[in-house]
Amino acid sequence: MGLIWFCWTAAFFYQQVWAAPRSVGCREREDMSKFWHISDLHIDPTYHVTEDRTKVCYSSKGFPASDPGVFGDYMCDSPYKLILSAFSYMKSVDPEPEFIIWTGDSPPHVPADKLSTDTVINMISNMTHTIRQFFPQLPVYPALGNHDYWPQDQLPPNQDDIYQAAARIWSPWLKKDALTTLRKGGFYSQLIKPGLRLVSLNTNLYYSPNKVTVNMSDPAGQYQWLQDTLELSKQSMEKVYVIAHVPVGYLPFAKSTTAMREGDNEKLVEIFRNYSDVIQGQFYGHTHRDSMMVLLDYTGKPVNSIFVTPAVTPYRSVLEKYSNNPGVRMYLYNSEDYGLQDLWQYYLNLTEANQQEKPTWRLEYMMTKAFGMKDIRPESLHELALKFEAPGSKEFQQYYTNYMVSYNDTITCTEECKTVQVCSVHFLDHKSYSECVQKVKGRDFKL
Ligand SMILES: *[C@@H]1O[C@H](CO)[C@@H](O)[C@H](O)[C@H]1NC(C)=O
Ligand SMILES: *[C@@H]1O[C@H](CO)[C@@H](O)[C@H](O)[C@H]1NC(C)=O
Ligand SMILES: *[C@@H]1O[C@H](CO)[C@@H](O)[C@H](O)[C@H]1NC(C)=O
Ligand SMILES: *[C@@H]1O[C@H](CO)[C@@H](O)[C@H](O)[C@H]1NC(C)=O
Ligand SMILES: *[C@@H]1O[C@H](CO)[C@@H](O)[C@H](O)[C@H]1NC(C)=O
Ligand SMILES: [Zn+2]
Ligand SMILES: [Zn+2]
Repeated sequence: MGLIWFCWTAAFFYQQVWAAPRSVGCREREDMSKFWHISDLHIDPTYHVTEDRTKVCYSSKGFPASDPGVFGDYMCDSPYKLILSAFSYMKSVDPEPEFIIWTGDSPPHVPADKLSTDTVINMISNMTHTIRQFFPQLPVYPALGNHDYWPQDQLPPNQDDIYQAAARIWSPWLKKDALTTLRKGGFYSQLIKPGLRLVSLNTNLYYSPNKVTVNMSDPAGQYQWLQDTLELSKQSMEKVYVIAHVPVGYLPFAKSTTAMREGDNEKLVEIFRNYSDVIQGQFYGHTHRDSMMVLLDYTGKPVNSIFVTPAVTPYRSVLEKYSNNPGVRMYLYNSEDYGLQDLWQYYLNLTEANQQEKPTWRLEYMMTKAFGMKDIRPESLHELALKFEAPGSKEFQQYYTNYMVSYNDTITCTEECKTVQVCSVHFLDHKSYSECVQKVKGRDFKL
């Protein structure tokens, strides 16, 4: 399916975006399929525009909203209208994608006493029903986020009300086996089609603020399950897409800080290295920003492409200087070997949408086009990441603008900011990451 559609759409975008029709190479691309990735919807049902800016949304926690309008505010989580605008745009861009991956975080950033297990379940249910209203027939593969729990971050390593509820709510999308492990530990795997398997991990079990799983060597037995699942896929000649909420590796904005506990990060990276020939892509959310990583094997060879998709919510906490515009993303992949071909990032300029009282979602960038790459497989990502290292790299400035979803393209990232960004792209384990940071400091290379 989709060949004619793809060629037409590609031609359409090339004309829309670059104002000149080009050859879009339909013949080369006829084995291409696509799927959407959405993350961090964070609905705030209390959002409403009102005179008193401290009362616009609970998620601003008493701080004044910055410039509230019908589609939201950079200090608040998503009004329902913003979420609806995202799905209706997705539907207009591509009414028939193959599937959607959805990497969690439905409830808003509010104090614990404003939520409960019931309200969290209701929000996951609301978001699920909303997606199904727009895409009734489409397979959707969700992963739980650290906010999809009450109290937040404390996802347990055993059967639980919220895992049970998630299994019930997502039963139209998931098969029996998947629902069984989902109920027990918040993770599952399911065959997308013969030869391609999806693995949805509950990396919240390894998230630093999770107090329930501290000191556990294998909470919910997920590591063992993951290795068994990957081994089975290897033997069955399947390829795997891994999705999860909290990403592996080092944070692109905080020096020497992993999103997970460091020990868990080391373990996961080792498993991913051992099975890098099976895994064709990894997809995360949680940071709310647009970033990439490329996993290197023990010899330094790039073996995995890893993407963190930006949030739909424009929220930033009062401690953060910058925010992100709302984003949704489409991936293109080769339908023979499932290698990743491209990503198309779409976004809403929230300031503009509020001014015009109209949500004009647009293409932000096509990755291969924006960076002159032939695809987004590990070797190509590695080449791009090497370009970032040049002082004053244009590619890096572009990457950094995309990082905040075109929130403000005049912000520059140099010195420490760039070190932290660039080292996080290439180096996911403690040893290689520390060496990278040291090298920059010792001026072995100057960014
Ligand atoms: C979801 O919640 C919003 C308000 O927060 C409500 O307007 C909408 O009807 C709900 N949708 C579904 C499908 O439950
Ligand atoms: C975890 O292990 C550390 C070191 O052994 C210990 O100090 C700490 O009390 C343990 N925490 C919990 C919650 O068991
Ligand atoms: C990864 O592979 C290496 C080498 O084969 C092996 O020693 C190690 O135990 C494996 N690690 C995991 C977590 O499977
Ligand atoms: C977003 O819209 C505002 C207001 O129209 C404009 O000033 C700004 O340049 C726009 N940003 C982008 C990235 O287009
Ligand atoms: C964008 O960033 C620049 C430089 O940091 C700043 O001066 C400007 O006010 C910012 N613009 C907006 C709309 O936030
Ligand atoms: Zn989030
Ligand atoms: Zn999160």
